[in-house]
Parts: sequence; C-alpha cells; structure tokens
Amino acid sequence: MADADIGLIGLGTMGAMLALNMAEKGHRVAVYNRTGSVTKDFVGGAGDLASNLIACDTLAELAAAIRTPRAVVLMVPAGNAVDAVSADLAEYLEDGDMIVDAGNANFRDTNRRFEEADRIKVMGIGVSGGAEGARHGPAIMAGGAPEAWERMKPILTAIAAKYDGQPCADYMGPAGAGHFVKAVHNGIEYADMQIIAEAYGLMRDGLGMDAKAIGAVFDKWNQGPLASYLIEISAKVAVADDPETGKAMLDIIADRAGQKGTGRWTVIEAQHLAAPVTVIEAAVAARNTSAQSDLRTTGEAIFGGRAEPLDATLDQIEQALIAGKIICYSQGFEMLRRASAEFDWSLPLPGIAEVWRAGCIIRSEMLNDMSRALGEDSDRLLMHAPFFADILKANTQSLRHVTAHGIAAGHAVPALAAALGYFDAMRKARSTANMIQAQRDFFGEHGFERTDRDGTGFHGPWVPPRPGNS
Ligand code: 6PG
Repeated sequence: MADADIGLIGLGTMGAMLALNMAEKGHRVAVYNRTGSVTKDFVGGAGDLASNLIACDTLAELAAAIRTPRAVVLMVPAGNAVDAVSADLAEYLEDGDMIVDAGNANFRDTNRRFEEADRIKVMGIGVSGGAEGARHGPAIMAGGAPEAWERMKPILTAIAAKYDGQPCADYMGPAGAGHFVKAVHNGIEYADMQIIAEAYGLMRDGLGMDAKAIGAVFDKWNQGPLASYLIEISAKVAVADDPETGKAMLDIIADRAGQKGTGRWTVIEAQHLAAPVTVIEAAVAARNTSAQSDLRTTGEAIFGGRAEPLDATLDQIEQALIAGKIICYSQGFEMLRRASAEFDWSLPLPGIAEVWRAGCIIRSEMLNDMSRALGEDSDRLLMHAPFFADILKANTQSLRHVTAHGIAAGHAVPALAAALGYFDAMRKARSTANMIQAQRDFFGEHGFERTDRDGTGFHGPWVPPRPGNS
C-alpha cells in the first residue's frame, strides 16, 4: 500500500539518522539502500521506530510504497552518484514526483539538475549538524521550486532543530540556492574552526599551556560572547585523554586537516562573485598548508620552528576571536548578498541567520544577534550594524594586539591576520589601489577614473596621446 509520506535512499550514517528522525516525528518512511542487507539491518535495529519504516529491496518497491506526488530524499555521495541514482529512480517515478538531494552537493550541479529536470521535480537541501543533528534536529537550507518546498515543508520543519520553538529549516530560493547557502555555511565553519585553532596554537605555543588548561579556557569562553557549538566541542576535545596512551588526545592527533571540498567551493564561488571572504580563504589555505607536513618538517629543519612566548592575555585572545568571528561572518553574509543579486535569488539573509541559530555546526548565540541586525537592514554590511560595530570597536584593539604580537613572536595566525587585514582595508575611504590602476594603465593602457572629475578611461602621461585617448 502506498502510504509512506516520503522515501529515502542511502542508509549511510547521515541517511540512517535522517530516516530515524523522520520516523520519530511520525512520518512513514520507505527506505532503500543499494546493499539490501543494510536496509534490513537498519529497519531491524530501529526498535519502536521500525513501525514507521518500510524496508524496500528495489527502487520499484520504494516508488510503490510512497504516496503521490512522491518525494524521495537522496543521501548518497555528492557528484556522479546523485545523477546515477536519480536516473535509475526516475524510471519508477511519475510526473510531478520529486527527488530531494540532501547531500553536500556543489550548487552548480544542483542548478544543472534543476534545469534538466523535466517531469520530475528536483530539490537540493543543505543539511547541517552531523550525525547527531540528522538524528535529533539538523539545520536545513532548502532550494528548489516553491511548490516543492511546500510539499517538503511539514516533514523538514518537523525534523529540524528548533530555536525558541522556531524550526531551523527554511526555503532559501530556487535551484541550487539551498546548497549554495550550505556551502557558505561550511566556508564559515572552516573559518570559525581555523580561528579557534589559531587561538589554541597561541595558548599552546605562545603561553605554554597544556591541553587541559586550554580546554578550561574554551569552557569559560563558552559562557560568554563566543558561546557556540564549535567552542563547546573545542573545550571537550581539549580535555579528553587518549584511552590507549592516557595522554591528551589532542597531542596524539596528527596535525594534517582533511576536507571534502565545500570550503574550497565557497572560496571559488567567492572569486566568481568578487566577494572578499578573506578569513575563509585563509582557513582553506591553512588546511592545505597543514596537509603539507613533509614540507613543513623540511621548513623547520631549514628555518627553525621556534616561536617566542606570546605577549598577550587570555582575555585579549578571547576578544581577538570575537572580533575575528564578526568580521568573518560579515564577509560570509556579504557573499550571500552578492550571490542573491547575481543569481536573482532573493536569499533571506535574516532567515539564514535564524536557520543557523540551532542544529548546524556553526550554531551560536551570536547568530541570534546577527539575524536581528540583518532584519533591521539586510543591505548593510553586518559589521556596520551599530550592535556589531560597537562590539568591533571594543575588540579590534585586541585582535590587532594578538595578531601583531603573535606574528612578531613567530606564530602562524593567518586567519586572524586575514580578518584584521580586511578590517583595516575596509575602514579606509582611500585605499592604495590608485597605484594598481596607475600600473595597469602604464603597462596596458587600461585607463582609470580620476578623483577630481567624473568619467572613465583617463590615462596618465605615460600613455602617448592618440585619437580617442583622454
Ligand atoms: C555540517 C558539516 C558537514 C561536514 C562537512 C565538513 O554542516 O554538518 O559541515 O557537512 O562535516 O562536510 O567536511 P570537511 O571538513 O571534510 O570539508
């Protein structure tokens, strides 16, 4: 009997957790995994929730189990697998049915699938919060046709995290808008993680603190303006011991960071949009640098790896993080604003901040203030909102002190430095790009604007006068 509210393909960790979450919220879910035994084991191990789960051996069975118009969530690896599974599944779907890609897709793939979609509707939803979030309440950023969102809304809002009772799931816009917003979320996630890692490094190498002491500091910071999931887990990982050796777990973990690519996509898209997301750029580059451990080891042998003690207090480091974080988020929301204009999406910037308040990896109290500031005026830079401008005025001196002293003492703080560099550049009405324009005109006759009159295409005296040249 076709009584399932929804189908779900792909019972890896995230897919399995999402299916259980849906089942727990009272939705009947038809589930399918390419390896049939996985499906059976999953439903068999679902306890009370099994009554809301229908194990399907084939895609035909899956399609037959779902009420029409059907909605099928894909939780398969991003990329070719999504196209392959979609093509196979489409054979069993009818006009108006819908495929919902809930993986970390590149939004350009989602745009393409949306464009190519003919009889079957396509949605792309960004789901954040890891396995725990998927099971008990993720943040959800949905993209696709508005009708598709209406079909999915009751289920997605039911399974999403709640902030003050409000579901952290919303419609972002057409086509790949949901996956785009998720990528920017992940870019910010990379940046947030990197500035926290830099603070950790300053405490470890600059203040000589051990992991447990650093964990206590993060724990304290989690009670203040930095309160967030990432600070909370940083405290937890810092105090954990390795069960095998009894040593601090952090001291055993290799210092090479992996990445699946969403942070990199954010940086690439930011370049297309001419959006300066310098803190995210620094964070992605820092992961790449971390991965080059052989070269770093050689570098230490040649140049010496020693850094001097840091002349800064823990309060100053906390304030540096507060300032760096606001600057980073301001860049991220500016990127979203540019994308919204470029792709004609009408992205709901305050709504995005609201969706990110709970469930996702970058969730924090500060996002509530950000949603309020963006709600007042979503066209202005977040860091220009009086609330955040005041916090920056109170904390950028520490960002400057910690970054400058950190660099002078030989510590690597690329993301904090990127935040400070952007902040300083963005508070100068007169930049130094007049020199760039002069150089461009000198070697390529590219022309420039003048400060003393309107118009474009002026040249310096180095360009020989010719007809048409000013
Ligand atoms: C989330 C996470 C999740 C995943 C990322 C990070 O929002 O739940 O961002 O999507 O952890 O893919 O992966 P990398 O650090 O490997 O790029």
